[in-house]
Amino acid sequence: MIENESTSDNNEYLIKMENNLVNSETIDINDQNFQKMMFLYNSALKEIKTKMEILQDELKIFSDYEPIEYISTRIKKPESILEKLRRKNLAPTYGNMFQEINDIAGIRIVCNFKKDVYRLVEIIEDFQDIRILNRKDYLKKPKKSGYMSYHLIAEVPVNFSSGIMYVKVEIQLRTLGMDFWASLEHKLKYKNAKITKNESNNLVKYAKIINSIDENMLTISNRLEKEQKENLMIEAADTKEDSNKKKIFFKL
Ligand code: GTP
Ligand code: MG
Repeated sequence: MIENESTSDNNEYLIKMENNLVNSETIDINDQNFQKMMFLYNSALKEIKTKMEILQDELKIFSDYEPIEYISTRIKKPESILEKLRRKNLAPTYGNMFQEINDIAGIRIVCNFKKDVYRLVEIIEDFQDIRILNRKDYLKKPKKSGYMSYHLIAEVPVNFSSGIMYVKVEIQLRTLGMDFWASLEHKLKYKNAKITKNESNNLVKYAKIINSIDENMLTISNRLEKEQKENLMIEAADTKEDSNKKKIFFKL
């Protein structure tokens, strides 16, 4: 997690800082160490959110391309961190929290079309300062529940007075349709455990219906994009022809 390129003095300071934080001590969500850990995740989340907002502005201003509908962020609740460690059969230590849980900081990028999800994944993967640790394409292979999204686990650089620290963030990318389904499914399943098998099967069915709507919207968008490109090419050819005519006229 520590950047090797920092000077040795600073590196030592960062290693000390990391060792003080990430150790085999048992988590106490009320102590200062826990607050310091959460500060790391909050900082990483601010960094990635800013990066994504800048990307959003850049694409709009320079390419007239607006793939992102909205961005949201969230930090995992302390109780959920402990619960996840229990679920994974891991001792509730700061070390396990830092090393084994990837989604303490989470950012969700909701896009218009499936092609936008893939374009953004490519762009994020090309960011020089972000390290991608893991990717899961639940668009190509949806989960049994019907859930679809693209997940990236990334390490984001956070600048401290003493150097750079890399902190893990989960980046979820999905379409508006997938977001609609996931939000409602989450509410129905997690807030009410009494969902029946039949209702669960219906949720899978609804995910498939939303996916087919996503596909149909994409087909329309692709056709329009193609037409727009062709029109631009025709316009460019016309302009060239016009300027050639002008040249001939001036020669006469
Ligand atoms: P978690 O232990 O749930 O974090 O799963 P994981 O570490 O195996 O990662 P996975 O990629 O499966 O899921 C991570 C996150 O994706 C979850 O925290 C949810 O935000 C979302 N997610 C995954 N599966 C579902 C699902 O079936 N329904 C909904 N609504 N969200 C899901
Ligand atoms: Mg999770």
